[in-house]
Amino acid sequence: MSSLSLSSPLLPGATLGVLGGGQLGRMFCMAARNMGYRTVVLDPDPKSPAAEVADHHLQASYTHKASLAEMAALCDAITTEFENVPAESLKFLSSHKPVHPSAEAVAIARHRIQEKDYAKNSGLSPAPYALISSIDDFDAAIAITGLPGIIKTTTLGYDGKGQQIIKNKAQLEVAFNELGQVECVLEKKMDLALEISVLLARNTRGEVACYPPAENEHVNGVLHKSIVPARVDDTIAETARQQAIGLANKINYVGVLAVEFFITTDNQLIFNEMAPRPHNSGHYTMDAAVVSQFEQQVRVMCGLAPGDARLTTPVVMINLLGDLWPVNWQTCLAEPGLKLHLYGKHEARPGRKMGHFNLLSIDIDQAIQKADKVFSELSS
Ligand SMILES: Nc1ncnc2c1ncn2[C@@H]1O[C@H](COP(=O)(O)OP(=O)(O)O)[C@@H](O)[C@H]1O
Ligand SMILES: [Mg+2]
Repeated sequence: MSSLSLSSPLLPGATLGVLGGGQLGRMFCMAARNMGYRTVVLDPDPKSPAAEVADHHLQASYTHKASLAEMAALCDAITTEFENVPAESLKFLSSHKPVHPSAEAVAIARHRIQEKDYAKNSGLSPAPYALISSIDDFDAAIAITGLPGIIKTTTLGYDGKGQQIIKNKAQLEVAFNELGQVECVLEKKMDLALEISVLLARNTRGEVACYPPAENEHVNGVLHKSIVPARVDDTIAETARQQAIGLANKINYVGVLAVEFFITTDNQLIFNEMAPRPHNSGHYTMDAAVVSQFEQQVRVMCGLAPGDARLTTPVVMINLLGDLWPVNWQTCLAEPGLKLHLYGKHEARPGRKMGHFNLLSIDIDQAIQKADKVFSELSS
């Protein structure tokens, strides 16, 4: 089923809807409002970060028929901030109004096997992988991936949750049981030198704007820091960009897409996963690119040309998790090149993404040094 399309671009004054009221929805709404659009958020949480800044909050579950119908009636176009929104809801909305990304694209990106299959068919190289739906699949899967491996639930994993490293068959069994014996993928554990992500925006006419790769550092499975430009050689950077664009073209993707890659110690470029939405590793674009990833989301869902994805300055983004609270804001804001973004969450819990900062500098090494220094002083 394909989505309705626009006969002409939606211009400022139109109403844009987003499924999900987290920080991504919030930054989308802020970008949309800056550009003169009206915004509607659907989210069950009465205090969701996006609802605070939206024109209208539909406070209901993502499957609530009447609220979905109201959303379709209120909005000229609809997007999503997360991939786990029920497919039926996306399909229902897309039978009434243009929805980007499409239900089909979201379905691919939310399923680890499907996304790897599509990546492989588009010429990208995922780590060797195999489906595990029962204990009977263990031997064949290990024969494909080798050991050690990583077992991941095929859906609903995020921030390192829903996955475990396994060194042998016995550990695979323990992990599979701990993951609830749901459908999983086993993949080869690669030796990583670096992780990068490529972000792009593509519209219905196939016009693409692609950002330079970000270099990502994770702590406890959660993105900690993005460094842009990534410290990789130009050939790898350009190959990653071309592969991400190729994948988006292949699935006729419309929206903002993030593609995560590994660079192995022997310099192979490995496809990891994709996200059908703005991405945490793209938050730097809010201050260090001509057009931010959230403005791109607005532009492409409105049928406009994607904006300029050029980097304007070297930048380091660092996530601010609830563990850091209470934060010494004075120290943080004493740094003149720092741009602070807080998501308006009412309670700081460990591991919860509360905000981020972008540290801009004329030189990437200096940006890293300053960002690390500010981060180390935040809680002291
Ligand atoms: N096949 C792999 N080999 C080595 N490291 C991996 C592999 N898969 C995942 N990882 C590590 O785990 C992190 C989270 O995995 P990912 O599949 O991206 O899940 P999530 O959806 O939680 O982001 C990756 O960023 C990487 O550091
Ligand atoms: Mg990931």
